[in-house]
Amino acid sequence: MDAMRWSAILGVPRQYLFYRRLESVTRAQVETLLRALDLDLAGRSVLELGPGAGVSLDVFVEHGASVRFIDRHPLYTLECRRRGHRGRRADFLALEALHGADAFDVVYARGSISPESFGDGATFRRWLDAIEGVPLALLSPWYEKGDRPDWFVATLAGAGYASAGWIEGYAVEDIYPDLWVRSSDGSVPIADDTKRVGQPVREGNNT
Ligand SMILES: C[S@@+](CC[C@H](N)C(=O)[O-])C[C@H]1O[C@@H](n2cnc3c(N)ncnc32)[C@H](O)[C@@H]1O
Repeated sequence: MDAMRWSAILGVPRQYLFYRRLESVTRAQVETLLRALDLDLAGRSVLELGPGAGVSLDVFVEHGASVRFIDRHPLYTLECRRRGHRGRRADFLALEALHGADAFDVVYARGSISPESFGDGATFRRWLDAIEGVPLALLSPWYEKGDRPDWFVATLAGAGYASAGWIEGYAVEDIYPDLWVRSSDGSVPIADDTKRVGQPVREGNNT
């Protein structure tokens, strides 16, 4: 039976079933990310923005982190709580939802922001400034059909983010092709960030 039919029978959104079905893939991708960045989360606090079903929260906890989340979707919020994670149901594009973010060591967002979330560089910059106090920010935006506008890249670069580019086993072509890192505590050293900024989205391997 296809996902549409299950979704009608169970009364849950198709997306929810989709993310649950992808659970092992997402888990492997997040494990790959931690290895690729050589990132030790033991004893660190992570705020995830838009965790979906909460698989990455599980992985972060397994690596010794304490976690909190913000997600606007009631079902995903419930699912994250069912997994034992604490967090709020809110729209994190509203800057007031990010009050208190500075108390975290790491902020992580994957697939929950996109150029369309902000519309222009000034709006995006205000949002990035709201998480500026977090020592390590890891943002893997969603690009609709791989479209990564210049203003989006320029705003990230202007706010001190460097692109880690394509991370094999983590990046997903056309959707999440890159990861942007701002590491004010040096916990993720990016060797030559100027070279990494602005590389084409569709390049197969641009690390
Ligand atoms: C594409 S899913 C990504 C899920 C997960 N991060 C992953 O890597 O698989 C996007 C998630 O972000 C949440 N989200 C998107 N925009 C949001 C917003 N403005 N405020 C709060 N949650 C948001 C959605 O509800 C959903 O759970």
